Amino acid sequence: MSEVHVLTHPLIQDKLTRMRRVQTSSKDFRQLLKEISLLMGYEVTRDFETTSTTVTTPICEGTFPKLEKDFITIVPILRAGVGMVDGLLELMPFASVGHIGMYRDEETHLPMEYYCKMPEGVEDSTIIVVDPMLATGGSAVDAVGSLKARGCTNIRFMNLVAAPEGIKAMQDAHPDVDIYVAAIDEGLNEQAYIVPGLGDAGDRIFRTK
Ligand code: PRP
Ligand code: URA
Repeated sequence: MSEVHVLTHPLIQDKLTRMRRVQTSSKDFRQLLKEISLLMGYEVTRDFETTSTTVTTPICEGTFPKLEKDFITIVPILRAGVGMVDGLLELMPFASVGHIGMYRDEETHLPMEYYCKMPEGVEDSTIIVVDPMLATGGSAVDAVGSLKARGCTNIRFMNLVAAPEGIKAMQDAHPDVDIYVAAIDEGLNEQAYIVPGLGDAGDRIFRTK
């Protein structure tokens, strides 16, 4: 069974509360999402392995830690996941970015994949899939499934707000994929929106409604 890490840091929680407010503008929403993503990035990368390297400082030579493997791929689920990329790239400017496009059919709520472009050799990288919302879990389950079908094995999922239903769907389908989330809300409404949630993340980021 995968681990679910709920990131309760007060800075993350305060920013998320501001994002939830219906009055928050798209500009502020995007900025807060970027800041939260950077903060969450510390926890998502906490178990990354380091090895030793020899470096000459202006004073002397010494042995210091460096990332063991720096082929890291950030995979936003389009569209809303794009809002989480810049914060992570600030932490890891050497990371690659692969895109996967999923939309939920408005009537069935089932995910449909419409785009996928991954960096060459993605199957050898450590992958962080990002999407602010985990509702039914359909989009994340299929996105991770699509990466596994391409040979990827080292995958983690970073998400802002989850419904318990989405967490269960992910754990059932992908017990090897740890989940990092800022909040687990009450559940879903009839339209499969997270309650209380923050509304439609993509529309709020891109001001499409
Ligand atoms: C949202 C969100 C997730 C998905 C979550 O995307 O960004 O990808 O819904 O719902 P699920 O867990 O029930 O699949 P949406 O389909 O609205 O597309 P968008 O990002 O283009 O707005
Ligand atoms: N997608 C969103 O953007 N918000 C939800 O609450 C559910 C799915």
